[in-house]
Amino acid sequence: MDSIIVLDFGSQYAQLIARRVREAHVYCELFPWNESRNKVLSLEPKGFILSGSPSSVYDPGAPYIPAYVLDSRLPVLGICYGMQALTYALGGRVSASTKREYGYAEVETAHANPLLAEGKSSVWMSHGDRIEHPPKGFVTLAYSSNSPFAAIGNLDKNYFGLQFHPEVRHTQGGDDILRRFVVEICAARPDWIPESIITETIQRIQRQVGLERVISAVSGGVDSSVATTLVHRAVGDQLVAVFVNNGLLRSGEASQVVKTFQDTMGAELVAVDAVNDFMHALQNITDPEQKRRIIGEKFIRIFETQAKQLGMPNFLVQGTIYPDVVESSAPDRAQAARIKSHHNVGGLPQDMHFELVEPLRYLFKDEVRQVGEALGLPHDLVWRQPFPGPGLAVRCLGEITPERLERLRLADAIFTSELAQAGLLSMVEDEGTAQAFAVLLPVHSVGVMGDNRTYQEAVALRAITTDDFMTADWAHLPYDLLARVSNRIVNEVAGINRVVYDITSKPPATIEWE
Ligand code: XMP
Repeated sequence: MDSIIVLDFGSQYAQLIARRVREAHVYCELFPWNESRNKVLSLEPKGFILSGSPSSVYDPGAPYIPAYVLDSRLPVLGICYGMQALTYALGGRVSASTKREYGYAEVETAHANPLLAEGKSSVWMSHGDRIEHPPKGFVTLAYSSNSPFAAIGNLDKNYFGLQFHPEVRHTQGGDDILRRFVVEICAARPDWIPESIITETIQRIQRQVGLERVISAVSGGVDSSVATTLVHRAVGDQLVAVFVNNGLLRSGEASQVVKTFQDTMGAELVAVDAVNDFMHALQNITDPEQKRRIIGEKFIRIFETQAKQLGMPNFLVQGTIYPDVVESSAPDRAQAARIKSHHNVGGLPQDMHFELVEPLRYLFKDEVRQVGEALGLPHDLVWRQPFPGPGLAVRCLGEITPERLERLRLADAIFTSELAQAGLLSMVEDEGTAQAFAVLLPVHSVGVMGDNRTYQEAVALRAITTDDFMTADWAHLPYDLLARVSNRIVNEVAGINRVVYDITSKPPATIEWE
């Protein structure tokens, strides 16, 4: 498959560049700028894109363009710092400007070229340094009132530089610029489509696994379902899937997961009822981190027992996706502040000697969904809202008891069914919610019902909108919907006499409460 390499100089937008290239159906990988030459060139790329960076090219230790990039004579597109690094490497001059330029700017194409459309367009700028003199052989392709060199290019060598960011949605026609670069200038074949991803992944799994047996933990979430289905397509009944009911699932979820799996995947499924086991282990535990730890450990032990009963398969399926791979290899992001110790079911047995099978390792989340659709998985499963691995433990604050979990389940089911009826539970439509759920609070307050004093628990409703779950806004739900939900919860769920709606964004709050 033809590919493009994005070299990451430390930009917050580097992943976005890779996603836009993939959206143009061209395979693309993102590497730190100082990745080894052999690793990068082994992909036999058709061109390079250089990302932005918070650095300045004259800073000591600033990232630079590795020699193999220019030696390859392949097309290069430098974005923001990438453009400055290209200018510097080819003998042009970059100046440390005291005036930073952020936000919208209007650029006008000045010279016919294969990268930019003619005329004016609105673009997103975010830079401090700027180009003083382009290198020899370069011409101005576009300018703005603030940037005489908003875009430059050496049309003989297919070297291009953009001062603005084509990868962000704010840049009008930015996706077209990236598509023209990869498809027309680099001549990369746009064959990164779900069908070819599936074919290639299946072949890769077959080569890796051979005739050995494979075990997979399924949770009902999109990643584990798509990963397991791909492995099943690849190796058939060499695969056994294990589903552990930990008692922390939502209303009707455990039976739904098993039914969907059997209806659509046809692989062997071992369903383990571990509800009592988990409830016992969580008794009297109120600290959220301790809850997570206990759940993680319990899961490993149960999974280990199952694996032993299945004669210890050599391979374990894991739903790692591309952003996880990129995050853990980017040096400066590995140390990102640890707010909560997230864990993924199926990702834990480190003391067991499985070799990992990672069918989604090169896919972004939206690609996982497209592959899921192409595999014929049910639409509702493919577009399911995220649900944390430790399940309702994260949303049942305070002590976890079967009674409190049931209270939470009922309240959650009322909220989500009302949202679904109003067409607001979908992640697809713009007006929908990206995640919506109820949280049971360990708080008692006084109420009055039918002339009697009540002293019962409170439920918080949380609904958010977001693209990436890194930041989020609270969903501005209609008042009449909130009124209906509140009314129904208090009337239908014994033990709850108060409902509140969470109107905090992330940051400063997080999406889950804990
Ligand atoms: P926060 O609460 O950190 O959540 O804003 C961000 C996203 O991650 C989900 N989440 C988890 N997912 N295991 C998971 O697999 C976890 O322990 C976990 N905790 C939070 C959360 O639902 C939201 O989508």
